Amino acid sequence: MVVTILVSLIYVVISSLCPESGALPQELYSISISPSMSPSSATPMPVTIQENPPLSPAMFVIGDSSVDAGTNNFLGTFARANHLPYGRDFDTHQPTGRFCNGRIPVDYLALRLGIPFVPSYLGLTGAMEDMIHGVNYASAGAGVIFSSGSELGQHISFTQQIQQFADTLQQFIIRMGEAAATSLVSNSVFYISIGINDYIHYYLLNVSNVENLFLPWSFNQFLASSVRQGIKHLYNIYARKVVVSGLAPIGCAPNYLWLYGSENGECVEQINDMVREFNFVMRYMIKKLAEEHSDLNITFCDVFEGSMDILKNHERYGFNVTTEACCGFGKYKGLIICLSPEMACTDASNHIWWDQFHPTDAVNAILADNIWNGLHTNMCYPMNMEDMVIQKAERS
Ligand SMILES: *[C@@H]1O[C@H](CO)[C@@H](O)[C@H](O)[C@H]1NC(C)=O
Ligand SMILES: *[C@@H]1O[C@H](CO)[C@@H](O)[C@H](O)[C@H]1NC(C)=O
Ligand SMILES: *[C@@H]1O[C@H](CO)[C@@H](O)[C@H](O)[C@H]1NC(C)=O
Repeated sequence: MVVTILVSLIYVVISSLCPESGALPQELYSISISPSMSPSSATPMPVTIQENPPLSPAMFVIGDSSVDAGTNNFLGTFARANHLPYGRDFDTHQPTGRFCNGRIPVDYLALRLGIPFVPSYLGLTGAMEDMIHGVNYASAGAGVIFSSGSELGQHISFTQQIQQFADTLQQFIIRMGEAAATSLVSNSVFYISIGINDYIHYYLLNVSNVENLFLPWSFNQFLASSVRQGIKHLYNIYARKVVVSGLAPIGCAPNYLWLYGSENGECVEQINDMVREFNFVMRYMIKKLAEEHSDLNITFCDVFEGSMDILKNHERYGFNVTTEACCGFGKYKGLIICLSPEMACTDASNHIWWDQFHPTDAVNAILADNIWNGLHTNMCYPMNMEDMVIQKAERS
């Protein structure tokens, strides 16, 4: 308790030193954000478009800090990564809001599709060319449950992100007509990565006495049915290719190793068991959803499986630091978030964890390869993303 208060105090002190963190958006849900709101950290993305036409016209990203590409730069929240050393190994070597030293999985997947890095919705000026290859709505701290993560400040929840996509679709319809807009959307990939904050910032904190009211199993069922509703909403507005990412083994994250007093880096099984169960329930839900909609291409990628493979075979992948974060403070560097370059290791590429909760760019690259085509280990059911976007006939 004392430590938690101390940590919160440190957050408050640091954030009050950081002038940008008080900036609140005027109109969160409006498409046209005034240019003056763009933070200086919104550096233009390097655009690596392949010669060939893209395999998918666009990608739309919904989720939390695992895929946030800058949304929270515009929100009043402690969950922000718009300062160094975040982004130091990114293409621009600048912080962008990504919770990583480099790229997040959706960056690697955009390159695979042959489209530019997908920009954050709140950073858009409203220009069509900025959103034609997709939009990223993901917001750090967001969960499936609206109030998950609220103690960190503002975020855009799962349901709100879907609403924002509906607004984007309206823009497409107005600008290019209904037929072109619906065709664009139904050929695009939707990437969903959400749910971890419903544990980190809700269930494990016992918000509203939730641990007494729900066993993990029924909590999982509740989350999965809420995600199902969200996907059905997306389906109703023409989404036809959906990749759902499962949850990572946060029981092995430096923050929980520290918090639960792990002696030699053993993962917190009690937390990992909940995550495993969530992934199981989600995978089953998605299988059912696919059976109910013959024209829906949907797959579940079990990031837990892929991450455990990396943890177990870390030497083969070139990682020799597996329990300690590159950037942080305290045992396993799990006590407080990464706040300044001095807190970071010099070489993140041999680390699995970048900060107390998030993996390094090197891990994201491996996971993205697995999602794309199972390069290192198969973890997507029933299909990899490549199979979703490339017609079978074209490949043979
Ligand atoms: C959760 O909180 C309630 C009170 O809000 C408390 O009675 C209960 O013991 C807590 N459960 C756990 C597992 O900590
Ligand atoms: C990991 O490997 C690097 C480079 O080979 C080395 O400098 C570092 O000391 C190693 N760290 C650990 C914890 O073994
Ligand atoms: C999934 O996508 C592939 C490639 O576009 C296509 O061949 C297949 O028919 C789709 N399946 C469904 C169920 O829509």
